[in-house]
Amino acid sequence: MTASLGAARASRRRHRRSSAVVLLLALAATGVLWTAFAPRGTAQSTPDANEAVRAGRALYLQGCSSCHGLNAQGGGQAPSLVGVGSAAVDFQVSTGRMPLAAPGAQAQRKDPIYSQTQIDQLAAYVDSLGGGPKTAVVTKNALDDADLAQGGELYRANCAQCHQAVGAGAPLTYGKYAPDLSKATPTQIIDAMRTGPESMPVFGPGQIDPAGAVAIVKYVQFVSEAPSAGGSTLGKYGPVPEGLLAWLIGIGGLLAVCMWIGARQKV
Ligand code: HEC
Ligand code: HEC
Repeated sequence: MTASLGAARASRRRHRRSSAVVLLLALAATGVLWTAFAPRGTAQSTPDANEAVRAGRALYLQGCSSCHGLNAQGGGQAPSLVGVGSAAVDFQVSTGRMPLAAPGAQAQRKDPIYSQTQIDQLAAYVDSLGGGPKTAVVTKNALDDADLAQGGELYRANCAQCHQAVGAGAPLTYGKYAPDLSKATPTQIIDAMRTGPESMPVFGPGQIDPAGAVAIVKYVQFVSEAPSAGGSTLGKYGPVPEGLLAWLIGIGGLLAVCMWIGARQKV
């Protein structure tokens, strides 16, 4: 009796000890599996993104905060950058408009003073403050596949009234002007549409979808690079100034010939 009781107690103790061992082994196995299969990608990309935001904030404090405020909240000098998105920063800084050199009717296109890496960092910082359109990505394949004719239609309907039929640009009111588009990169063209710099309207994806936007880029590149079939382009100002020039030179020339003939007859 006592012997069998003792044996039962011993077996229970052994049983408890073995379940502790199983538990330890299970814990160890979970640890090993976790290190093997943990989602390493996200664990590493977060510090990278944070790094870009930190670097961007440092650049921002140095080059932009005097006008846009210490936290990009805006001030008397310049608008808030909260919610303008990375596209606005990429457009303004890569076209050299920002940092603004001198206040005037309109910021001018200049050589950028920041490298593309620094521009991406500034954009990451501003993006971290809140939403807004993202910097456009235009691949060569997308450009090759884009529909040139559709781009021309969209361009004539939405852009030509300010930038002229072939993207040569034109003056607007109060010293403002719609610039020549031949220097703009594909990314800058789409960023400009999505953010509407200064007096240019915003063209959101609801108005011009992503495929349409790339088609416009293809059209702008086409008219900027196309050789002129009719000889000199006369600055590509369109048919009215070209016609006027033809009248002045043509009629002026005819008058000169008439006067020359008249002068010879008197002799
Ligand atoms: C001398 C003052 C000044 C400095 C310095 C300056 N900005 Fe600006 N910024 C302005 C003004 C004024 C405007 C509004 C007029 C315009 O868009 O040209 C503006 C507009 C912008 C916009 C467009 C906002 C929108 O609503 O689309 C962005 C983006 C921007 N600035 C980014 C920057 C960045 C980034 C820097 C630093 C690299 C910078 N700015 C430095 C004065 C300044
Ligand atoms: C109401 C007139 C107006 C319309 C319509 C308009 N733009 Fe603009 N656009 C402007 C003005 C003004 C600027 C200069 C803004 C600045 O300097 O901040 C500009 C600037 C640009 C730039 C920057 C050029 C450079 O070299 O830096 C691009 C690209 C551009 N527009 C493309 C377009 C496209 C594409 C459309 C049609 C979808 C369009 N715009 C429609 C007025 C207009």
